Amino acid sequence: MTDAHTQHATDNQHATEIMFTAEFWDERYGSTDRVWSGNPNPHLVTTVAGLAPGDALDVGSGEGADAVWLAAQGWRVTGVDVSKVALGRAAVHAAERGGQLAERITWQQVDVLSWDPAPARYDLVSAQFMHLPRPALEALHRRLAAAVRPGGTLLIVGHHPSDLETTIGRPRLPELMFTAEQVGATLDERDWEIRAETPGREVTDPDGQPVTIHDAVLIAVRRG
Ligand SMILES: C[S@@+](CC[C@H](N)C(=O)[O-])C[C@H]1O[C@@H](n2cnc3c(N)ncnc32)[C@H](O)[C@@H]1O
Repeated sequence: MTDAHTQHATDNQHATEIMFTAEFWDERYGSTDRVWSGNPNPHLVTTVAGLAPGDALDVGSGEGADAVWLAAQGWRVTGVDVSKVALGRAAVHAAERGGQLAERITWQQVDVLSWDPAPARYDLVSAQFMHLPRPALEALHRRLAAAVRPGGTLLIVGHHPSDLETTIGRPRLPELMFTAEQVGATLDERDWEIRAETPGREVTDPDGQPVTIHDAVLIAVRRG
């Protein structure tokens, strides 16, 4: 007989084996017309304010809200995701914006577990809520850091582990959560100006009650 702890660990292992595959995400996106709000992520918007547009990489671009918003600000954007369904939907959103916006975005299907972006290629690399098991997460963050040009910005945002103590109803997978300080520890302070923050956000839990959740926000600028 399996005790509760062992069962939980087995379920978690199964979840973390399938959660980063094209099959899982194609099914998730394909099951509904829209998964996310369509609005750009707030930490992206505040971080990009004050940056001159250049080349941006959006990692785990989902339905494309961040990439489309960046393109509207004048950035040339590469949006990468494992899900062809998400990428197709994102491309439709970009086309619907009209004008030449869609021409500033390249959509690419990649598996970030193995994909290596070109080194020193981007002025902004953004990964919003791209959660992976460790050590794959640290390895990805190192590859993303290498893709940032001197003077460029690395922005990593995720769900903070303290959210598991709230009623927001996140999957109980603590091994997938991270702090900004943990991400910052993968960077060499001699090469990076690092800000690690844990801002709170007011949201509504599944029972309609207000709850404060926290994001892990790492903003690092590569010394140039
Ligand atoms: C939580 S969603 C975040 C989407 C978007 N960044 C946002 O904030 O709305 C995570 C995204 O990562 C993508 N993803 C998951 N595993 C991946 C992998 N192995 N390679 C590339 N993308 C992956 C999913 O398809 C999904 O779009």
